[in-house]
Amino acid sequence: MDTYRFRKQIHKLPGKVIHRVPLPEPQVVEGHGAREKIGELCQGCGYKQVLLVTDQTLHHLGYEQKIVQSLEEAGMGCTLFADINSEPNIALIDAGRKIATECHAECVIALGGGSVMDTSKMISAGVKMPHLSTKTLLRKFLVVPGKTLPMITVPSTAGTGAEVTVGAVVTNARGTKGSTVIVGLDVTHVILDSELTIHAPQLVTAACGMDALSHVVEGTLSDVAVYVEDAYHSLDGVRLILQHLPVVMREPENIESRLAMCRAAMYGGNAINTQLAGYIHAFAHSIGAKYHLPHGQAITLMMLPVLRYQKAACLSKYAMMARYCQLVDEHTDDRHAAEKFLQAISDLIVTCGLDKLESPVQPNDYEELTRMIAADSINYSAPVTFSEEDIRKVLEKLVVSS
Ligand SMILES: [Fe+2]
Repeated sequence: MDTYRFRKQIHKLPGKVIHRVPLPEPQVVEGHGAREKIGELCQGCGYKQVLLVTDQTLHHLGYEQKIVQSLEEAGMGCTLFADINSEPNIALIDAGRKIATECHAECVIALGGGSVMDTSKMISAGVKMPHLSTKTLLRKFLVVPGKTLPMITVPSTAGTGAEVTVGAVVTNARGTKGSTVIVGLDVTHVILDSELTIHAPQLVTAACGMDALSHVVEGTLSDVAVYVEDAYHSLDGVRLILQHLPVVMREPENIESRLAMCRAAMYGGNAINTQLAGYIHAFAHSIGAKYHLPHGQAITLMMLPVLRYQKAACLSKYAMMARYCQLVDEHTDDRHAAEKFLQAISDLIVTCGLDKLESPVQPNDYEELTRMIAADSINYSAPVTFSEEDIRKVLEKLVVSS
């Protein structure tokens, strides 16, 4: 059997498998400066000692100070681990596990972007399995006995959704990135604090926003049966981003829209947990890895070529999103509504200043990229299965349009 027929045959499997993974059910606290409530929250949970994980950049900006102060006011012991200066790897996780164990942390507070979140997840899991080396924790599914250490996540960007996702992407001893699904991840609280995202550079806001959009769009399109509430959150995430990303690009200090973007990004994380991603991510992961293109930019580059290519199969869902986002009225037919949806995304890319992104893809690399994309697509339950020829056609469009 060729890989296309194999992939087509098993395409519903990832959606079924992911539904067996218990998901965290965090309490969400949102507001401008909401991280000042963390001390009180920890006190309510009865903690005496916590580990606060952040990255070097946020530490230099002093973004953790309000958390430290609120913990002190609540009489909490706090140990700071602010060494994150790269994507998660074994050395960082080892260092974090050691500090968490030595300070007897009862909770891990993760303040930062995807790298801080994923490192913290592995620390929280690793502390519960002290007999296992970090290297052995890096498997496809890591089943933690009971649960991980409780985590409070405080995202500093509105994009990855890593504040709620059960996966952690870590570079292994061979230098290869791999994803580990943590079964038993215990995120008890998510703090959505617009004060953390309000000063982000425009390119970061734009690229993170497009990444979040890809999560809720691909979630909505996926061939996975989900609870109504999860489907609604994904759909509402699309609406929030189409409405509020242009506002934060225009008015970076608009608190209401910043908070809406934080919420939408969290919905995107929920979409990854419950509905998985699709071909936008399969292409973006492969192109990002091959040409070292940041994730949000690779996603932006791939979004319209993939959505346009699978339009015939997804027409009714594109139309549904257009109607939900009030891009068209209820009576507009699917074909026109779907076109409006694609146009809205195209306009958003222009508004974000990302329409001039250049594709790094070279025709010489088609064969290798096609293999990588087909292999990555096995992780998702996409609405259509692309043959090797389909993948190549999308890549060709990319070169022609760049
Ligand atoms: Fe993503």
